[in-house]
Amino acid sequence: MDNRPQWGTRAGFILAAVGSAVGLGNIWRFPATAYENGGGAFFIPYLFALLTAGIPLLVMEFTIGHKYRGSAPMSLGRLSKGSEWIGWWQVAISFVISTYYAVIIAWAMSYSVFSFNLTWGEDTGGFLFGEYLQLAETPGQFGGIVPGVFIPLVLVWAVTLGVLFAGVKKGIEVANKIFIPALVILFGIIVIRALTLEGAAAGLDAFFKPDWSKIGDGKVWVAAYGQIFFSLSIAFAIMITYSSYLPKKSDITNNAFITGFSNSAFELLAGIGVFSALGFMAAQQGVPVSEVVKAGVGLAFVVFPQIINEFPALNGLFGFLFFGSLVLAGLSSLISIVETFVAGVQEKFNISRTKAVMFGGGLSALISIVFATKGGLYFLDSADYFINQFGVALAGLFEVIAIAWFAKELKNLQSHANSMSDIQLGAWWRICLSVITPVVLGYMMFDNLRTNLTTEYEGYPREFIFTWGWTVAIGAILVGVLFTMKKKANENSLSASSNKGVSQ
Ligand code: ALA
Repeated sequence: MDNRPQWGTRAGFILAAVGSAVGLGNIWRFPATAYENGGGAFFIPYLFALLTAGIPLLVMEFTIGHKYRGSAPMSLGRLSKGSEWIGWWQVAISFVISTYYAVIIAWAMSYSVFSFNLTWGEDTGGFLFGEYLQLAETPGQFGGIVPGVFIPLVLVWAVTLGVLFAGVKKGIEVANKIFIPALVILFGIIVIRALTLEGAAAGLDAFFKPDWSKIGDGKVWVAAYGQIFFSLSIAFAIMITYSSYLPKKSDITNNAFITGFSNSAFELLAGIGVFSALGFMAAQQGVPVSEVVKAGVGLAFVVFPQIINEFPALNGLFGFLFFGSLVLAGLSSLISIVETFVAGVQEKFNISRTKAVMFGGGLSALISIVFATKGGLYFLDSADYFINQFGVALAGLFEVIAIAWFAKELKNLQSHANSMSDIQLGAWWRICLSVITPVVLGYMMFDNLRTNLTTEYEGYPREFIFTWGWTVAIGAILVGVLFTMKKKANENSLSASSNKGVSQ
C-alpha cells in the first residue's frame, strides 16, 4: 500500500481531474444540449444537477478514493464487500467508452490536418460520410477498415498508452500539465475570435434566450443530469481512481468544487464559442440560427468545417485550433478513462503497471478498430447512447444507493472529508446523495426504459439495437459481476499455499 503512486503536487491532481472532466462532452455535447433544452432556462436544471448531484458525488468519489486508496473496485470493495461489483461495472463502462472515444479523437486528429487546405470542400456532410468515413449503407455492416481513421487511431493509442506506461506522476500528471494549459489557450483564442465575428450576437442570443416552458418537462431535467454525469466523469470509476493517488494530507471538498466549477466554466465557454460561430454562419447564409444548429458529430465535423470555409481570414489556423482543442480535451479524458481499468486489472491480477497497460489498454485499442470500419459510425452511435443511458447514469444510481442506503457510510465519509478539508460538509450533502440524487436518477431510469422499450433509438433495426445497444450495456454489468467473482491473484496464491499446507 505504501508504494502506491502519488501525484507530485495538488495542482497536478486538480489538472488531471479537470483534464478528465473537460472532454468531448464539453465541446460538442453541452452547447447543443443546452440549446435544445430551453437555452438560458436550461441553466436552472443544469445548476440544480451540478449542485445536488455532480459536486456531491464528486466529493463522495474523491473521499472514497482517498480513504480506501485503491482502484474503483478495490476502494468500493473495502468500503463494503457488496459494492465491489459496482466498481467493476463502472470499470467495464469506462472500457466500452474508451473504445469509441479514441476513434472520435482520431477523426479530430485527421480534421486538424484537413484544416490546412480545407480538404473537406464545400459539401462537408458528403465529405465526412462519403470520402472520409466511407460509411456503410446499412447499420450492422463492417465493410473493412478505413485507413484514414485507422492511422490516426494508432497515434491516439500510442500517445495514450505511452502516457500511461510512464505512470501517474511522470505520465498522467505531466501530460495534463501540458495539455490543459494548451487547451485553455487554444480554445480561448477560438472564443475571442468567434465573439468578434459578424452575427455572433445573434448566435449568443439564440443560445441564452430562455424558453421557460421547457422547465416543467421531465426530459429537460434528465438531459441536465445526463450531461453533468458524462461531463464530470462521475460514475465512470475515474474520480475514485484518480483520488486514490492523493497524498494522505489533501483537501478533498475544495478540490471537488474547483474541479466541478472549472468544468462548468469550460462548458459555458464552449457554448459561447460554438454559438458565436453558429451565429456567424447563419448570418453568412441569411438564415436563422435555429437552421444551422446541430449536435455531436454533425456539429463538430459537418457544421464546423462549413464555418471554417466561410471564415474571413486564416481559415486553416482557426480549423486547426478547433480540432486541436478537441484532440487535447479528448486525450486528457481518454487517459483517465483507460487508467480506471489499468489500475483495476493491476490490483486484481497483481501484475506490473506495464503489463496492465499492455493488456488492458491493448485490448481496448484492438476493439476500437471495430469503430474504424465502414460501419463504425453506426456502432459508435448506438454503443455511446446505450452505455450512457443504461451505464453511467444507472451505475451512478446504484453507487449512491449502495453507499447511502445499504452500507450507510455517508456519515463516515463525511467525517473523513471534513477532517481533511477547508469546506465542511453538512447535512445538505447527505440529503443530496441519499434522497435527491436517487429520486431524480430513479425517475430518469424509468423514463429512459419506457422510451427505449417502446421505440428504437434513431430508428435503427431492432436486431442492431439489441446487439450494439442493449448487449453492450447489459454486458458491462455481467463483466462487472464476473470480475468480482474472480478471486484476487494473491488471494488465489494464498489459498493455494494454505491448501498445500493442508495436504502436506
Ligand atoms: N468527461 C469527459 C467528457 O466530457 C468524458 O468528454
